[in-house]
Amino acid sequence: MTQRYVAALDQGTTSSRCMIFDRQGRMIAISQRAHEQFFPRPGWVEHDAEQIWQTVRAILPEAIADADIEPSQVVGIGLTNQRETTVLWDRHTGRPVHRAIVWQDTRTADIVNTIAAETDVADLTARTGLPLSTYFSGPRLRWLFENDPSLRPRAERGDILFGTIDTWLLWNLTGGVNGGVHATDATNASRTMLMNVATLDWDDELLATFDVPRKMLPRIRSTVARFGTTKDPVNGIAITAMIGDQQAALFGQTAFDAGAAKCTFGTGSFLLLNTGTKAVRSNNGLITTVAYAIEGEPPVYALEGSVAIAGALVDWCRTTLGLIRTSPEIETVARTVTDNGGCYIVPAFSGLLSPHWDNAAQGLVVGLTGYTSRGHIARAILEATAFQTCDVVGAMNSDAGLDVRSLAVDGGMTSNNLLMQTVSDLLDIPVLRPMMSETVALGAAYAAGLGAGYWPDKAVLRQNWQLAAEWRPTMSAERRATELGRWRRAIRLASEWGI
Ligand code: G3P
Repeated sequence: MTQRYVAALDQGTTSSRCMIFDRQGRMIAISQRAHEQFFPRPGWVEHDAEQIWQTVRAILPEAIADADIEPSQVVGIGLTNQRETTVLWDRHTGRPVHRAIVWQDTRTADIVNTIAAETDVADLTARTGLPLSTYFSGPRLRWLFENDPSLRPRAERGDILFGTIDTWLLWNLTGGVNGGVHATDATNASRTMLMNVATLDWDDELLATFDVPRKMLPRIRSTVARFGTTKDPVNGIAITAMIGDQQAALFGQTAFDAGAAKCTFGTGSFLLLNTGTKAVRSNNGLITTVAYAIEGEPPVYALEGSVAIAGALVDWCRTTLGLIRTSPEIETVARTVTDNGGCYIVPAFSGLLSPHWDNAAQGLVVGLTGYTSRGHIARAILEATAFQTCDVVGAMNSDAGLDVRSLAVDGGMTSNNLLMQTVSDLLDIPVLRPMMSETVALGAAYAAGLGAGYWPDKAVLRQNWQLAAEWRPTMSAERRATELGRWRRAIRLASEWGI
C-alpha cells in the first residue's frame, strides 16, 4: 500500500523550512533555506517577500525529493509562519510594492503615539485583545499609506492586496496572478490589530483607525480548512491548514486543553497558555490571541507573552560582534565562568514587548568592570532570555490566578543546556522538552493532517508526545531573589534610556 505523509511549510523570521511527517509524527525529511535580513535604519527590519517566496518554492520539492516520495503521497500541507510581518503586493503583477515590514520593526512608533492620542486605546484593546504597539500589522499599513500616497487609491480599487506571510505564500502557492487564493486564518488575523477577537472578522472601527480599505484584506478562515490546491512549484497538493508559528508550536506540543502551556525559544521567545474557548483578558501585559479555530467548533484562545529578542541576541553576537563563530559556541564560552560577574544585557532591540510594552526602550549592557570577561558577556546573553521568560511567567501567573508548575519548551535554543537550566533555576520549576523539539512544523503538520483526515482526531496526536529532557531547579532562593532584583533594575534603565 502506498504510504502517505503530511508536509509542513514553516516560514520563520530567519529561514524557511519544509518538513515531511509520517503518521507517528516522525520527521522523515527536511529542507531549509535562509533569507536576507535588511536593517536600513535603527529599529527598521525588512524582508524581501519575493525572496521568501522563492525559498519556499525551492524547499517544497526539495523536501519531497529528500523523502523519496511522490507529491501525490502528500495528503496535505500545513502552512505556518512568522506572524505580524506585513506584505503589500500588486495583484496584477504579483510583485510586492514594498519590502515586507517585519514584526520586530519599530518604525511605527510615532503612528502608535498619534493613535494613542486620537483614539480610545482601552476600546482598541478590548476589540483586538492586543495592546497598542509597533509589534502588530495595522500601524504598518497606516505607515505605508502615509509614506506612499499612491498606494491607498490602488488598495481601494482592490489592485493592491495585503497579507501576513501566510497569505502571501498561499496566494503564490495557489497560482498567484492566475487565480491565487487570498485568505488567512484566524490565528494570523488575530495579530493584525484589524480583527475583532470576539467575532473573528475584520472590524470597521479598527479599519478606520488604521486607515485600511476592506477590499485589500484576505478572507479570514478557520485554522483547519481547505484553503486551496498548489499550482506552483508542484501541482495538486491540498493546503489544509494555516496557523501562526507560535500557535502551531502550542498545537505541536498537543497543548489542546485549557491550562496547558508551552514556551518556544527561537528568534524571540513566546509563551502561550491555552485558555479554552474563553478569550481571557490580561491585566498584566499579555496578549489575548486565537490559539486555533476548527470549522464547526468554537475557537480556542490563548494568553501569550511575546519576547522579541531571544536567539536573535545570540545571532547578533555571532554575526555582528563576531564574539562566537557558531551559535552553540555561546554555551561553551558561557561555561568558562560560573556566573555573570555582575553583567546584565537587556536586548530591547525592538523596544520591549510582553509584559512591559515599551516601544521606546533601548537595549543596554550594565555592570561592566575590568573583571568582565567574554564568558561573563556570553552568560549575560543567555540569561537575558531566561530573565525575559521569568517576566512573562510572572505575568501569566498573575493573570491566570495560578502558578505555572512546569514549563514545556521547544525551539532551537532548547538544545542549550545551560539556558534551560537557567530558566528552570530562575523560575524555580521543572522545564520539560519533548523528543520532537521542532514543534512549530509538527503543529502545522498536525493541523493539516486533521484537515486532510490523515489523523481522526486530536486525541491520537497526544500519543506522539514523549519526554526527551528535563531540567530541575538548583539555585538558592536568596541568589534567585538577588538576580531577579538586578534584572528589574536593568529593565528600568532600558526604559529610561529610551525616553
Ligand atoms: O510574532 C513573531 C513570531 O511569530 C516569530 O517567530 O520563530 O519566526 O521568530 P519566529
